[in-house]
Formats: sequence, C-alpha cells, structure tokens
Amino acid sequence: MSDADFARLSALIFEQTGINLTATKRRHIEGKLGKRAATLGLRSVAEYIKLLFERGMLESEVDTLIDLATTNKTDFFREQAHFDLLDKILVPALLKTRPSGAVPRLKVWSAAASNGPEAFTIAMVLAEAAARGPRFEFAVLGTDVSPEMVEDARRAIYPASMIASLPAALRRRYFMQGRGTGTQAKVRVVPELRRHVRFGQVNLVAEKLAVDRDVDVIFLRNVLIYFDGPTQKAVVRRLVGHLRPSGYLILGHTEAAIGNGMGFEQVGTGVFRVT
Ligand SMILES: C[S@@+](CC[C@H](N)C(=O)[O-])C[C@H]1O[C@@H](n2cnc3c(N)ncnc32)[C@H](O)[C@@H]1O
Repeated sequence: MSDADFARLSALIFEQTGINLTATKRRHIEGKLGKRAATLGLRSVAEYIKLLFERGMLESEVDTLIDLATTNKTDFFREQAHFDLLDKILVPALLKTRPSGAVPRLKVWSAAASNGPEAFTIAMVLAEAAARGPRFEFAVLGTDVSPEMVEDARRAIYPASMIASLPAALRRRYFMQGRGTGTQAKVRVVPELRRHVRFGQVNLVAEKLAVDRDVDVIFLRNVLIYFDGPTQKAVVRRLVGHLRPSGYLILGHTEAAIGNGMGFEQVGTGVFRVT
C-alpha cells in the first residue's frame, strides 16, 4: 500500500471511529485489506483502495473497514478487580441512594463491548448480587462501533475455552453447552441472563449517543488507548453526561490515568465516582 493510500485510509478511520492507525499497525491492516480484496475477487489492495475512494464503493464498505480497523480482544471477568468492586462497593452504594419501597433498578453500560463478554460478566455479577439480596432489578447495555461485534454479541455464543476458568457454579448457572467437542466446543449464555442484556451499535466519537442519561455505571475499558489525547478526554466527558449524579465510570487499568484531573473522585484503580 502506498503512503498516500495509507494516509487516505487512516484519515477515514480516524473520522469514522477516532482510532489512530499508527504506522506500527500498517502491516497488520494491509494484511486484512489484502484478504478483503481477495474476497471481492480483486487483484490487489491498491485496486480495492481505488474502488473505495474513486469509484464510489466507500459507503457500502465502511462497516467492513471499521471491523478491519478495530481490535476486539476481550474476555469474561477481564481485569477482575473491577467486577469485585462492582459487587462489593458500587452496587451497595448505589442501592443506598434509591428510595425505599419500590424495587430499585440499576443500569450499567458496557461502552466498548466487543462481542459481549464484558456485558455478560456485569450481568452475572449483578444477577448473583440480586439473588443474594437485597433484591434489585438491572439492565445492561452493551455497545460497540463494529456491527460485526454487535451481531456476534447478540448471538451470545462463545468457545467453551473462554469460560473454562470461571467458577463451576457460574458456568452451570449461566451457560448452556453446545454440540461441538474439544476445540470446537461452544457455549451459549442462557436466556435468563440474556434477557437483562441488550446490544446496539454506538460510535463513541459521535456528537450524540443514543443512550439513556440515567446510567449508574459505565464500563469504558480498553478502548481509549486507540484514541489520541484530545479524543480520549472528549469521549470521557461525553460519556459521563450519561451517568446519574454520583454514578461511576470504570476505565481499563492501563487507561486509569486518563480519568485523573477531570474532577472525579477516584474509588479504585480506574474507577471514578462522578458527582
Ligand atoms: C479491545 S476491545 C475492548 C473490549 C472490552 N471493553 C474489554 O475491555 O474487554 C475494544 C473495542 O472498542 C471498540 N471501538 C473502537 N473504537 C470505537 C468507537 N469509536 N466507538 C465504539 N467502540 C469502539 C472496538 O470495536 C472493540 O470491540
């Protein structure tokens, strides 16, 4: 890929997602573009880029390009300390602020959800807490810029190996075994948990986000690292506008410093109370 083509593509990805395609990603992206070009029966990446920018194919390919540019690595209970804090500190603190009488309802948003494990982990933690009592209801929203990830999350089917290290009780309660065996073995999140979790496509760098403004906790983890400094702060500011007063924002461990100096109260590594 020529420097000019890489620059055109990087500018497009930045405009669409806020992601900085640094020079170190160039070879990786080029490989993915090569596969896409071959799938479309084209001879080279150069031909693909030409069709995108000069022959009007951009509109129909933009979702595919977003999928190619995003890094979707995720896991169940990734950075477990955040889920322990959610269970032991945040949920009790949030329930205390609700008026007594009606059954309280907590809303949690996984704002760069990839194909769903973070959102389902939140749902498992909340389901366990609600079963232990005091009773409460909850809804989890998982969003991602990548349409492919959102579709995958809605299916809620994962390799069995992804849940192998979870406690047996959680595996039994929240996953159904699929038909495959060995490395092909798959599991699916049970409908009782899935009914608490909704997925949608949301681009965090868009001006307006179609998300409620009374969210209790936002998980914004392992996505800010792909943005430049000004975009990181702008995204955090936009997202906290969707929190209830005294709601919580959770950033990935490597991104925790981004929340400093923004006027939030720090309650754990990467965990902030926003007043
Ligand atoms: C590395 S994954 C992190 C998944 C999960 N939060 C975790 O920590 O395991 C980053 C996700 O951010 C998404 N993403 C990248 N840019 C985005 C944007 N502008 N808006 C929304 N999601 C974005 C990617 O598609 C990808 O699924």
